[in-house]
Amino acid sequence: MARDHGFHPVRITRIVDETPDVRTFALDAGFPYRAGQFMTFRVCGALRSYSMSSSPDTDGELCVTVKRVPGGLVSAWMHEELRPGDTLEATRPSGTFCLREDAGERPLVAFAGGSGITPVFSLVKSALATTGRPVRLLSAHQSAPAAIFRAKLDALAHRYPGRLDVRHHLDDRDGLVTALEICELASPQAEFYLCGPQPFMDLVESTLRAQGVAAERIFAERFAPVNGTAPEAPRADGTVTVWLRGTRRSVPRRFGETLLQSARRAGFTPPFSCESGDCATCMARLTAGEAEMRVNNALDADEVAEGYVLTCQAEPTTPDVTVEYED
Ligand SMILES: Cc1cc2nc3c(=O)[nH]c(=O)nc-3n(C[C@H](O)[C@H](O)[C@H](O)COP(=O)(O)OP(=O)(O)OC[C@H]3O[C@@H](n4cnc5c(N)ncnc54)[C@H](O)[C@@H]3O)c2cc1C
Ligand code: FES
Repeated sequence: MARDHGFHPVRITRIVDETPDVRTFALDAGFPYRAGQFMTFRVCGALRSYSMSSSPDTDGELCVTVKRVPGGLVSAWMHEELRPGDTLEATRPSGTFCLREDAGERPLVAFAGGSGITPVFSLVKSALATTGRPVRLLSAHQSAPAAIFRAKLDALAHRYPGRLDVRHHLDDRDGLVTALEICELASPQAEFYLCGPQPFMDLVESTLRAQGVAAERIFAERFAPVNGTAPEAPRADGTVTVWLRGTRRSVPRRFGETLLQSARRAGFTPPFSCESGDCATCMARLTAGEAEMRVNNALDADEVAEGYVLTCQAEPTTPDVTVEYED
């Protein structure tokens, strides 16, 4: 059986204004979760994922923190419409942007940009509370008023002197983050956690790699799709057959096309959220043929063994494949 990726009612108990654009929603969800994980919400017919800013190890309530994206459908609605007592629909927490159990006492170094601080704040709190690991954090924002959790991070650094080193980077004061700043935090023994806008993540990752940091020591969470659009791919032998809500449609296979893209080409509007292999919103089961996922940060080994795939990441490796979405 696949894990429970269905939607459940969750009630908002409290709303906190973090900055003019950012709100934290405390939920009486009662789900177990790990620091760094997220939940996917069904709002206005759309699916969006939001990471927990709370830590299961230090906070009594489960909280997600949402930045209002200009023109954004769901984030704007959540900011404008939601009040304490309202109920939302959400999946159970999932995601693999978590502390590694085999990390030992290796230093944890985190780079967060904008709303990317949300899961990183959760990770930092858990690492401090449950391990003796030294923690260093670069938290980058456009300006002081936009700096999410600034005071809370300073309070945490005060509580853990010598263990937590927080550097607040403000673009309007310091310019954009540079490779030099990143190198100052790099250390060969550390594990690195990255979350923020794509150019920021690219710079951090390439700088760390150039410093000799192994790819296995770098963990990244992407909030926006890396490759959301379908390429104009040439036709390949075979057929992709998709079942969705009791309807079956087939399209000719195309090279380099994911099953999600094939399903859309077949005229379906299948479920998806991150399109980065992180959230499992797009999962479906292969019932014929084979496919390979480019990235899988969401399904566990049992689910993969049972034939489940992330359709946003799975490309057929046999001419004919059939994929079935669960209702
Ligand atoms: C695993 C995961 C965890 C996430 N955790 C958080 C979180 O903790 N807090 C949070 O605020 N968001 C988080 N996000 C992003 C969130 O899911 C939405 O993508 C975001 O709120 C925008 O949705 P929207 O409906 O408001 O905007 P849309 O209506 O989807 O988009 C409106 C416009 O904004 C652009 N846009 C979309 N997403 C972003 C983005 N992230 N940054 C900048 N521009 C964007 C689009 O290209 C479009 O032009 C997470 C995403 C993923 C995949
Ligand atoms: S849409 Fe998130 S894993 Fe596919």
